[in-house]
Amino acid sequence: MTDSQENGAGEIVRLEAINKRFGDTEALKSLTMTIREGEFVTFLGPSGCGKSTTLRILGGFETPTSGRVIVNGEDVTRLPPNRRKVNMVFQDYALFPHMTVRRNISFGLELKGLSKRDIAQRCNELMEFLELSVLADRLPDQLSGGQRQRVALARALAPDPALLLLDEPLGALDAKLRGQVQAELKSIQRRTSKTFFFVTHDQDEALTMSDRIVVMNHGVVEQDGTPEELYFHPTSRFVAEFVGETNLIEGRVDAVSGSDVTLDWKGLKLAGRPPVSGGLQPGKQVAASIRLEGMKLSLDKPEDQPNAVAVRIAGRTFKGSRTELDLRAENAPDFAMRAYVDTSLANGLGEAPVWASWSQEAMAVLRD
Ligand SMILES: Nc1ncnc2c1ncn2[C@@H]1O[C@H](COP(=O)(O)OP(=O)(O)OP(=O)(O)O)[C@@H](O)[C@H]1O
Ligand SMILES: [Mg+2]
Repeated sequence: MTDSQENGAGEIVRLEAINKRFGDTEALKSLTMTIREGEFVTFLGPSGCGKSTTLRILGGFETPTSGRVIVNGEDVTRLPPNRRKVNMVFQDYALFPHMTVRRNISFGLELKGLSKRDIAQRCNELMEFLELSVLADRLPDQLSGGQRQRVALARALAPDPALLLLDEPLGALDAKLRGQVQAELKSIQRRTSKTFFFVTHDQDEALTMSDRIVVMNHGVVEQDGTPEELYFHPTSRFVAEFVGETNLIEGRVDAVSGSDVTLDWKGLKLAGRPPVSGGLQPGKQVAASIRLEGMKLSLDKPEDQPNAVAVRIAGRTFKGSRTELDLRAENAPDFAMRAYVDTSLANGLGEAPVWASWSQEAMAVLRD
């Protein structure tokens, strides 16, 4: 079989049913995923869910208990790191402490036997690009966390790897620098058309940077999709709550047909969209996610929305141009919902009941 037959189109990485045990800990449970060439894929999940372990297995620093790692159609499961066209930026950078910035970046190129001139040129380009030129002769312990991070990135990019693995490379940066480096990273990735596999536990970062996000929880993939798919069509409760903020309501499936679901929620009929995975049956108890900004507030009952609930405003949190409202439904006063509305609108709403409404599109029914 040729590579192209064995590979999906443009597929650069395939992880097949990877299991990894550390003693009693099952760090990865039958993890299967693919990465296509040129993609910026983000691995998102809480601490301890198995992100670094996956990267280390892909980079060759760890061997899976079972399963296969395929890179460019070749089974590399048992190959050492230096025999894979994969480079890694570690969570703790792992710079060479006794080498200058310049030498840290050029070291991998020296091992590859490039000419001195080519090495110097590549090194200068990268240092300029990542604003490291003035730091060229410093040692790692004379750098700030953010500067060390950029050196680690330059070092990993230097040998022009087919796939770059980035394990929380922006963790140590303050908010402003982090935003800048995010934009830089994304632009490096676009300009070089390199495949990036980026790890973070920061959902905002994942939404901003990725072509595709793989959400992990307890060693398994929860959902795999574009940022928009994950945000607007989460399929599980975990994804709905982990990616962005949301309202979760629990109801009974009243009817399902194609892309329409009707839920019975505390005596009200609500219209939503079913999960992409399907599998909803009438009568089942399910949860549904409605994003805070998907809820509209109005004094009169809106005629054009399928979902409208009479609510009272129980609290207000000023957030600048918008205000977060804490709402209690008249038909379920113990149940709290939240909405983001323009502050000017929020100021016009009083103590009397108002209407919270949302579109069918805004309500994603989750798989049970
Ligand atoms: N060498 C090891 N020995 C024993 N257990 C390990 C080892 N490496 C990882 N683990 C365990 O495997 C699980 C996954 O760890 P991993 O480092 O992959 O998590 P992570 O998603 O990268 O978390 P974080 O966001 O905190 O970096 C954890 O329960 C961790 O304690
Ligand atoms: Mg980690």
